[in-house]
Amino acid sequence: MLYSDKVMDHFMHPRNVGEIEDASATGTVGNPKCGDIMKIFLKIDGDVVSDVKFKTFGCGSAIATSSMATEMIKGKTIDEALELTNKAVAEALDGLPPVKMHCSLLAEQAVKAAFKEYFEAHGGIPEDKKKYFDVLDEDEHAVDEQ
Ligand code: FES
Repeated sequence: MLYSDKVMDHFMHPRNVGEIEDASATGTVGNPKCGDIMKIFLKIDGDVVSDVKFKTFGCGSAIATSSMATEMIKGKTIDEALELTNKAVAEALDGLPPVKMHCSLLAEQAVKAAFKEYFEAHGGIPEDKKKYFDVLDEDEHAVDEQ
């Protein structure tokens, strides 16, 4: 199994590892099959993701995708950050082996779970943003077994 230089770089030197003590919201997801767990901490100021950190107990690809996902949403507006997809994360890492795509899905789900918590604490998910959260119902196993 071959990993890109970017995957190896983000695995060996992950960005934004840690916790945010006064986080605006957090999202934790796990894949029951591989047992990997990801937690994302969001700090939101106005409508901007001013800081984001992660803690991942998981495989190298889970760490690399968490790291890349945090880099891709940091400093972005909420609307921009909601556009994050697991495919975009994988592409930004110059690809992942097919059997590891579920790791990038976990990263997207962790980010979306944190935004879900944020919206729920602020009056609920707006109707026009609900589509961004369908990914939380996706079954990683279907991706895993491709
Ligand atoms: Fe499960 Fe990577 S093997 S997240």
